[in-house]
Amino acid sequence: MKCTGVSHAYVIFGATGNLATHKLLPALYQLHRMGQLANDVEILGCGRTEFTQDTWRIEIRTLLVASGIKDDEVLTSFIQRLDYLAGSLTDAHFYQSLAQWVGDNGSENNVIFYLSISPDLYVDVTEGLAAENLLNESAGWRRMVIEKPFGHDLQSARELQHRLDKHLKEEQIYRIDHYVGKETVQNFLVLRFDNLILEPLWNRHYIDHIQITHAETVGVEGRAGYYDKSGGAVRDMIQSHLLQVLALLAMEPPVSMEAEALRDEKVKVLKSIRPLDTSQLSTLAIRGQYAAGVIKDESVMGYLQEKDVAPGSHTETFAALKLYVDNWRWRGVPFYLRTGKRLKARHSMIAVRFKEPPMDLFPRAAGKKRLPNWLLLGIQPDDAVRMEISAKVPGVEMNTRQIVMNATIGQPEERKSEAYEELLLDVIQGNRALFLRYDEVKAAWSVVDPILQAWEQDEQMPLQYPAGSWGPKAADRLFGDSGRDWRDSLLDDTSNPT
Ligand code: BG6
Repeated sequence: MKCTGVSHAYVIFGATGNLATHKLLPALYQLHRMGQLANDVEILGCGRTEFTQDTWRIEIRTLLVASGIKDDEVLTSFIQRLDYLAGSLTDAHFYQSLAQWVGDNGSENNVIFYLSISPDLYVDVTEGLAAENLLNESAGWRRMVIEKPFGHDLQSARELQHRLDKHLKEEQIYRIDHYVGKETVQNFLVLRFDNLILEPLWNRHYIDHIQITHAETVGVEGRAGYYDKSGGAVRDMIQSHLLQVLALLAMEPPVSMEAEALRDEKVKVLKSIRPLDTSQLSTLAIRGQYAAGVIKDESVMGYLQEKDVAPGSHTETFAALKLYVDNWRWRGVPFYLRTGKRLKARHSMIAVRFKEPPMDLFPRAAGKKRLPNWLLLGIQPDDAVRMEISAKVPGVEMNTRQIVMNATIGQPEERKSEAYEELLLDVIQGNRALFLRYDEVKAAWSVVDPILQAWEQDEQMPLQYPAGSWGPKAADRLFGDSGRDWRDSLLDDTSNPT
């Protein structure tokens, strides 16, 4: 197999965890299959569970086969890259063994350290690595990938950064947000800036509002220990993923696709988000928590019954916000963000509703109104672009109806890459464009902190919604009497003449 790429070692902390085994190692396998990993790249898994190199290789081979990987030859050559080091991340001996491993392996000059671990351990690992001089770049680059959440709020993000600053330069830190690596999310940039057709309409004069929805049918999936204490829908999804999507949709054209140019524009958007008026919070932010219900004919338990959830927990599993971006382009256009677990369908999309034409020139059937123009960008499961516009119904009468221009972005024979594949490759190549800069993270915390603080002081439980619904009905309150409504799917029925 022909391999290109930069020599390095990939060290994964938390290698036995869900993220590493289900996302990172499969992504590295794909990069290997595509010939993107240099021949001498070694991948070291670090975890507390005792594995030998052999038992670790068997474990990962079994997992990859179970995930549908069939090419035995490629798999065997990938497995040869794997090694394992057991130990505690708070034990100095572990870092001595790691330093020994790094020294013993061919690709020792460049090393990526991936922190797929509890955020409580980020500082311990950084200090442990620094104590063994493993972050020093005199012999080759050393990069650290840090998963979200970066801090728990603005203050803790500052403290974390302060501790990291002692050992790492900003260029060494890759704050990953896998959502930004999704094909369709990156496609926003192409749709917006590689075409002229959208840009003239992309502003407050033509757009009525924008909805960003990320709906999941899954619950906390055995992660309640993290989710109940450090997560909740706002910290887990909105502070990172959905605000990144908002920033990519709302930003000005960057001067180039270079990391700093792109991140400068995103941070400007995040800083322009109007601080939420907490005295009006119940009309701007809604939180919910799933109760028992039925999803796809299967009964599922409520959040409070999940293992490791504290009794009476107030953690929200659903959140919806109404935000405004106070700048020249967007002032007055609401952005509605919504995310939840155990909702009716797994579906993520952007829905852009355009304003009405200045005059209604056409007759409508009794009781029918003109339907608005929508541009819908499906993120998952469908990566599609759908435009809904008004057209004449054939016949002698002048009736109109909504028609749909629908395009799937990928072709059936094209393999859609997983977000982590691209992002892991970017780390190898030193491309930081899709990783978050510290000022972006701070700006995002500034947006959500007032909501989190207000909710923490609120003694009422989040609104309960039955699993399998679209969340609490109260989320409609965000629309007030504007006549707007949530778009729950790419496929609303548009066939009725208006
Ligand atoms: C993760 C969150 O970052 O993103 C999870 O921690 C969430 O709670 C997940 O389920 C959603 O991303 P994806 O790519 O699985 O849709």
